Amino acid sequence: MRIQILTIFPELFGPFLATSLVGRAVAGGKLRVEVRDLRDFALDRHRVVDDVPYGGGGGMVMVAPVWLRAVRELSQESRPWRILLSPQGRRLDDAGVRELARRDDLLLLCGRYEGIDERVRELVVDEEVSIGDYVLSGGELPAMVLTEALSREVPGVVQQRESVERDSFRTGLLDYPHYTRPPEVEGLRVPEVLTSGDHAAIERWRLRAALAATLAKRPELLERADLPPAARAELERLRREASPGGVAGSREN
Ligand code: ADE
Repeated sequence: MRIQILTIFPELFGPFLATSLVGRAVAGGKLRVEVRDLRDFALDRHRVVDDVPYGGGGGMVMVAPVWLRAVRELSQESRPWRILLSPQGRRLDDAGVRELARRDDLLLLCGRYEGIDERVRELVVDEEVSIGDYVLSGGELPAMVLTEALSREVPGVVQQRESVERDSFRTGLLDYPHYTRPPEVEGLRVPEVLTSGDHAAIERWRLRAALAATLAKRPELLERADLPPAARAELERLRREASPGGVAGSREN
């Protein structure tokens, strides 16, 4: 997968691209990331990339000609799918990440200031992507978020493929809790089943814990989750137990 990133702050990406899973993917050639300084495409010797907004108001706007030149030059080797990171975009989720990963050749546009001249979006952007309903000062952190999420979709980047497939959201459920040594921490013991060696029982416990976590923290995910019949049945049991007339309720009476 190739990801080109256009930004006026290329230095923000250094440690990110050299560390952990993304770092290994880049070093191993599985992920090709090219960070390009937008100012290199400026048309004047002061490398200016912004100007005052038409209509007045606060803040500066990034000028169209510099962006158009940069995007077109970076599309010469091949035509990448061009993504503008912006709070106005489609909100990123697991399905969106997988869809974008299939594109294989991406150009991420990181805006700053009040934004980029609207004609850039109209002329050269394929898609706008937001990483959530809040406003950051630029598209650089969102580009890193997207790059890291995409890197996990590249075969061989996450050593245990199984862990990607079992991740939260992929299953439609939140993750089950994880434990490691020591067996007791400040009076809290690891659930006994996890040390039993009974793999079928461990699987049943993990499914139940994932269902319980989702029911408690993000119940709306359960509406969309494509659960196998055994999981549906377990969920119904959990719901009955949680309801006032259920097992938990009657135990308290
Ligand atoms: N740029 C500023 N805020 C953003 C957000 N929430 N998502 C993507 N790009 C952004």
